[in-house]
Amino acid sequence: MDSSIQHGFADFSRINLIGTATPLQRATGVERHLRREGIEVGVYLKREDLTPLGGGGNKLRKLQYLMAEILQSGHDTVVTFGGIQSNHARLTAAVCAALKVECHLVLTQEVEIDTVDYQHNGNRLLNQIFGANSHVLPRGSSKKIFADELVERLFAAGKRPAVIPTGGSTPLGAIGYAECAAEISAQASVAGLNFKRIIVPNGSSGTQAGLIAGWTASNGDPGIIHGFAVMEGAERCKVQTSDLVSSTLDFIGLGSAVPASVNVSDTQLGAAYGQPTASMREALQLLARTEGLLLDPVYSGKAFAGMLDQLRHGELAAGDDLLFVMTGGVHGLFAYQSTLGSAWDDEAGEVGDSN
Ligand SMILES: Cc1ncc(COP(=O)(O)O)c(C=O)c1O
Repeated sequence: MDSSIQHGFADFSRINLIGTATPLQRATGVERHLRREGIEVGVYLKREDLTPLGGGGNKLRKLQYLMAEILQSGHDTVVTFGGIQSNHARLTAAVCAALKVECHLVLTQEVEIDTVDYQHNGNRLLNQIFGANSHVLPRGSSKKIFADELVERLFAAGKRPAVIPTGGSTPLGAIGYAECAAEISAQASVAGLNFKRIIVPNGSSGTQAGLIAGWTASNGDPGIIHGFAVMEGAERCKVQTSDLVSSTLDFIGLGSAVPASVNVSDTQLGAAYGQPTASMREALQLLARTEGLLLDPVYSGKAFAGMLDQLRHGELAAGDDLLFVMTGGVHGLFAYQSTLGSAWDDEAGEVGDSN
């Protein structure tokens, strides 16, 4: 990996963790499936899951900018937060390993799933392999108090720790997705596509907020970017996203106007963050059996389910093209074997049913 610090979006310092642009891929198998339901749209996938480090995923875009600033400021240790199965934690662990930075993950029990695979497999296993120090807090304890004490201990031991907030969703982190918006815009223009909708999962909001900021910066209509909230209700998520769009635009130097349209829906949230839903399972299965591609059960699976729901409710016109942002996270699937696996127990031999 080239760990040199370069100039990225709007001249902010960046370590290139992405390489060249991620692919924009047409999903003809999904289109065929939808046609049989009477839905005639073009479906494209932005393959953010194919980013080249730590198993890939959206958090790398943010870490490019966050880690550049951390290294430039002379830090040698990173502390960040996440749930037990956080993809952000896994990718921070991988990037720290590649940059030879000590990594501390403060992992909280956000989800009421106590199975062995949820607690120990998936991202949690990968964090160990990447050599991160995982601090798993008991349910209900304060991550802020723990992290403050941890940072004090690290300073006392002569380290220079930096703290990355949950999900890396700061204005600096969101710039990674403003840059991605410009990348999508350029790819669409080369391919002669005019997306009527862009769908993305929304957890800590940095991905959607960055996309909106970047789309706004290039004079696109931010109203086409629809987020599916997977952590909290739509109203709170929308406020959080709008605030982050404003602060990101301000940070880039484009004024801090509150964007007119920030579209966030919580129709796919289900019982709670990280709890599977029937529509997420259908979405996962549909993409797996039409394209041979994997979604994750917490973020992209619920957002893809939301996309299907919007199409089935006629939200796009015949002939429209839409883009689904595949944000990665498939490693989380291995935490859900005992929670989710039985859904497919009796289905051997039915592989073709979504084609
Ligand atoms: C796979 C995946 N998709 C989407 C998201 C949501 O991104 P954000 O937190 O920027 O809203 C996350 C966040 O952890 C994620 O891991």
